[in-house]
Amino acid sequence: MDKYIIRGGRRLEGEVVISGAKNAAVAILPAIVLSEEPCIVDNVPDISDVRICLRILEHLGAQVEKLGKDCYRIDPTTINSYCVPYEYAKKMRASYYFLGALLGKFNKARVSMPGGCPLGDRPIDQHLMVFSDLGAKQDLSQGMVDLSADQLKGHDISFNVITVGGTMNAILAAVKAEGLTVIENAAREPHVVDLANFLNSMGAQIMGAGTETIKIKGVEHLYGTNYTVIPDQIEAGTFMVAAAATRGDVLVKNIIPTHLKSIIEAMEKIGVDIEIFDDSLRVTAKKPFTKLDIKTAPHPRFPTDMQPQISTLLTLAEGVSKVTEAIWDNRFEYVKELRRMGADITVDGKVAVIQGTGKLSGAPVKACDLRAGAALIIAGLAATGVTEIEDIFHVERGYDCMEGKLRALGAEIEKRSFPDPVAAETEATA
Ligand code: EPU
Repeated sequence: MDKYIIRGGRRLEGEVVISGAKNAAVAILPAIVLSEEPCIVDNVPDISDVRICLRILEHLGAQVEKLGKDCYRIDPTTINSYCVPYEYAKKMRASYYFLGALLGKFNKARVSMPGGCPLGDRPIDQHLMVFSDLGAKQDLSQGMVDLSADQLKGHDISFNVITVGGTMNAILAAVKAEGLTVIENAAREPHVVDLANFLNSMGAQIMGAGTETIKIKGVEHLYGTNYTVIPDQIEAGTFMVAAAATRGDVLVKNIIPTHLKSIIEAMEKIGVDIEIFDDSLRVTAKKPFTKLDIKTAPHPRFPTDMQPQISTLLTLAEGVSKVTEAIWDNRFEYVKELRRMGADITVDGKVAVIQGTGKLSGAPVKACDLRAGAALIIAGLAATGVTEIEDIFHVERGYDCMEGKLRALGAEIEKRSFPDPVAAETEATA
C-alpha cells in the first residue's frame, strides 16, 4: 500500500509548471481513433488515467509511440476492433469517450460501462440519448453498451442537464455523421473547447464550442495533426490553494488565466493575493482568510473539481462558510477525513457548513477520490505534525508528479510503500 507522508507547516515557495489537462487528454486520445492518419499530441499529462487511455488505444490495434516526456505519436490506421472490455473501462470514467469515437469511426461500438471516482450516481442517459438521436441502436446487457448504426445522421440534440461527458461524446459521434448536428445546452468547459479545437485541426467543422450551442457539419475524412493539450485548470487551482494554505509565495506557470477566473475570484474573496500574467500567476497569502459562501456549477462558474480544495482552505478562515455542491450527490466524503485533522464541518445533503478553526493537525487519513486526495494533501501541508494519506492511487489518476512538484516548492512530502497490517494479519491467521 502506497501512502503520502507529509510533515506540515512548510511554506511553499518557488515556481511550479502545470501539466496538460486530464479531462482534455482523456477525450483527445480517444478522438484519435477517428483520424485516417497518425497524430502527434504534446503536453499529455503523465497520470494513470492517460496510461489507461493509451492501453485502450493499443488494445484496439493503434500503434503508440512515446516521443518525449509528454508527447506521443499515435497511429490509428491499424485499429481493427471496436470493443473496450471491462478490464480497461472499469478503471476510468472517461472510457465512455471510446463509445462516441468508435461509433463515429465504425458505426459500431461495444464498450463496458465506465468506472471512475465514486461521486454518487453517475448515469449516462444523456450520452445514450445522443447516440439514439444520431441514429444508433443500443443494447445494454452484461455490463456492456453496444451501439450500431447503418449511417449516423446529424440531428438536433438538447441536453436535459449540462453534461461535460455527454457534450464531448456528442461531438465525437457527430463529427463524421451525415449533415448538421446542433447541440443545445452544451457544456462550456475549457476541455470541451480543446476537444473541438483538436478535431478541427484534423479537418472537422465544429463551431461554437465554449458556448451553449455547438454546431457540427459532418465531414467524411479526418486527417493527422500535431496538437498541444491545454494546461490543467484544476491542477493549477489545486497548487494555488496549496500555496495559499501554507501562506506561501508561488508562481504557477503554464496556465490560461481566463480558465481560472472563478477560482481566482473565490480565492481573492477569501483574502489571497493573486497577480496575473500572460501565462502564469503568482499566489501570496499574507492577510487573514475570511469566510465565503460558494456553490459549484458548470463552467464558467466555480468548478466542482475544486470544491474539496477550497473547502479545505476555508477551514483555515475566520467565520462560518457555506459550500454547496450542486453537481455531484456524494462529494463530501472527504469531510470525515478532514474532521480527523481537526476541521469543524457539518454536512447536510448538498451543503457543508465550515466553522473555520484556523488550524489543522496531522492525522492518518484516506483519499476517497481524486480531488478528495488533493484536498487532504493541502490539509497535510497546512497542518502541524505528520499526515499519512492512504489510497493515493486516486491522486495519481489525475495529478502528474504531485509529490515531486510539491517537494520542489519546499514541501516535506514523500511517497512510501507499506505492507497492509490488516491484510498481513488476515493472511497469518488464514
Ligand atoms: N448527468 C446525468 N446524465 C448523464 C450525464 C451526466 O444526469 O448522462 C449528470 C451527472 O450525474 C452530474 C451532472 O450531470 O450530476 C454533470 O455530469 P457530467 O456529465 O458533466 O460529468 P462527467 O462528464 O462524468 C466530467 C469530469 C469530472 C467533473 C465533471 C463536472 C471527466 C473525465 N470528468 O465528468 O471530473 O467533475 O465533468 O465538471 O471529464 C475530476 O476530474 O475529478 C472529475 C470527477
